[in-house]
Amino acid sequence: MRQAGTWLHAGIALLIGAMPAGLAAAQPDLVQRGEYLVRAGGCFSCHSAPGGQPLAGGRALKTPFGTFYSPNITPDRETGIGNWSDVDFVRALRKGVRPDGANYFPVFPYPSFTGISNEDAVAIKAYLFSLPAVHAPNRAHDIGFPFSWRFLQSGWKLLFFRKGPFRPHQEWNDTINRGAYLVTALGHCGECHTPRNVLGAMRRSMWLAGTADGPDDKPVPNITPDPKTGIGEWDEDDIAELLVTGAMKEVVADGTKYLTDDDRKAIAAYLEAQRPIVNKIVPPREDKRTWYRRLWDWLVGLFSFV
Ligand code: HEC
Ligand code: HEC
Repeated sequence: MRQAGTWLHAGIALLIGAMPAGLAAAQPDLVQRGEYLVRAGGCFSCHSAPGGQPLAGGRALKTPFGTFYSPNITPDRETGIGNWSDVDFVRALRKGVRPDGANYFPVFPYPSFTGISNEDAVAIKAYLFSLPAVHAPNRAHDIGFPFSWRFLQSGWKLLFFRKGPFRPHQEWNDTINRGAYLVTALGHCGECHTPRNVLGAMRRSMWLAGTADGPDDKPVPNITPDPKTGIGEWDEDDIAELLVTGAMKEVVADGTKYLTDDDRKAIAAYLEAQRPIVNKIVPPREDKRTWYRRLWDWLVGLFSFV
């Protein structure tokens, strides 16, 4: 663990050392790239409260474990992340660890963001630090015992956290691999589109197969290429188009709408290359499953560590 941390430090030091004069935040290119990545990563939607200042936090995120409030990620030194080093930032995003060493809760989608490259993470920070600092104290999460115990997250991590960064698959071409990076890491599409087990971890065997109880208890569709229950009948243009005009309101408005055509096509190509999974999403109200069927599903969820 310690060794990995040292490597991360060394890697980032190298990266920053390689930048002329080391003035990452003052580089317009880096900031611009960071802005693109922040959009692709959907940071705005989670870190801005309705009617509040952008990225100043306070947005409520309801989960089966309670309500979390996103923190202020503007460069305010007192209430935001203004005092953070690049290393602090990359470690938070890619390892889910706070500067003081405590673990984040996985409502912060670091299990996906771990796939982000160090270069991209540093660009994201450069963009955030180019924005005005907003003074807005963080609001405490409203979650019950025992989920509120941060140190229990170490156990969760042991069971479910698979550290990045994203590695391209050899059998895929560059387009599909770019799509894979956008979907699995930055775009964290699986965080909504993959069902979770009872401890809130994504069920890998049901990757992107949709769920009846997504964020805010809303159903999220199956986006694997199964023709009946997924998006198997869609072609790549349909998918790319949806990422500009689709009904996934926040994801589109704050994020995917700003992507380049190439990146949207890459996402579509990646989705089409997935294994089709038959999974019909039934809203809870219309769910006619019997109690033993529900119990069975619950148990499967409980023991699915994959
Ligand atoms: C699904 C909602 C969601 C998305 C999307 C999201 N975050 Fe967060 N983020 C959170 C929550 C919730 C926390 C607090 C977690 C905790 O307290 O353990 C958090 C914590 C953080 C922190 C730590 C702040 C601190 O004060 O400790 C940083 C930095 C951060 N997020 C940056 C980002 C960036 C950059 C992006 C986009 C690439 C992003 N987040 C996208 C919900 C989100
Ligand atoms: C915050 C949760 C969330 C995230 C993150 C998310 N989606 Fe969605 N997505 C939804 C919901 C909810 C819908 C259903 C549309 C609606 O009614 O709003 C949806 C619909 C879709 C659809 C249409 C499927 C259909 O059958 O109508 C596609 C395709 C899709 N999402 C792809 C993506 C991709 C690609 C990403 C990552 C870049 C992504 N989604 C990230 C919640 C999410």
